[in-house]
Amino acid sequence: MDKKVFIFDLDGVIVDTAKYHYLAWKNLANELSFDFSKNQNEQLKGVSRVRSLEILLDIGKINLSEDQKQKLLTKKNKEYLEYVNRMTADEILPGINELLNFLDQKNIKYALGSASKNAPLILKKVGLFNRFTAIVDGNDVSKAKPDPEVFLIAAKKLKKDPVDCIVIEDALAGIQAANNAKMISVGIGDENILKDADFILNNTNELTIDFAEKLIEK
Ligand code: BG6
Ligand code: MG
Repeated sequence: MDKKVFIFDLDGVIVDTAKYHYLAWKNLANELSFDFSKNQNEQLKGVSRVRSLEILLDIGKINLSEDQKQKLLTKKNKEYLEYVNRMTADEILPGINELLNFLDQKNIKYALGSASKNAPLILKKVGLFNRFTAIVDGNDVSKAKPDPEVFLIAAKKLKKDPVDCIVIEDALAGIQAANNAKMISVGIGDENILKDADFILNNTNELTIDFAEKLIEK
């Protein structure tokens, strides 16, 4: 029963910060005189900040110097942090607290595996910073998802083989990273987007203790 461990993505799994990322990117796009839809935003989920800007500028067909890009990255993150700084524990997504409590009770370890450089701040804001055995985030990796690096570092910190790690992800790039790491992948969201996941749930409400028990026993 204690063989498996969990690795959680942050944005869109533990908290719904995806909506704040979207707002900040959309505002930046609007300032650059183009629109940016929710559908297009799917391409940015799980993707690093720098890569997100490149994708956004491609969508707007805009070419900028490195210096200008740096300024936009700073601007986007400044706006994003304004939203983050207002966050409280109320923004933890449904089912997550119950699941973490269950894992604690069963002595099942869990880590964070996020592309975000803001992950420690967000976890502190919602009061979950001290709960994880390990936190691996955008500050620790050199290769972004779908590269498996972030999850492989987390597995090492949890002292587990990749095959015994269950990854919970809301992004296509994250599911691909988990699959590339040879881990068990659980996708939260649209099954048309996350079709490569081993398991797909509509939302975190479906991340029940029953479901977790079945995964652990598999
Ligand atoms: C991921 C998000 O978790 O973190 C992406 O899904 C985001 O949308 C990436 O771009 C990097 O986040 P941050 O906080 O370092 O800008
Ligand atoms: Mg995510």
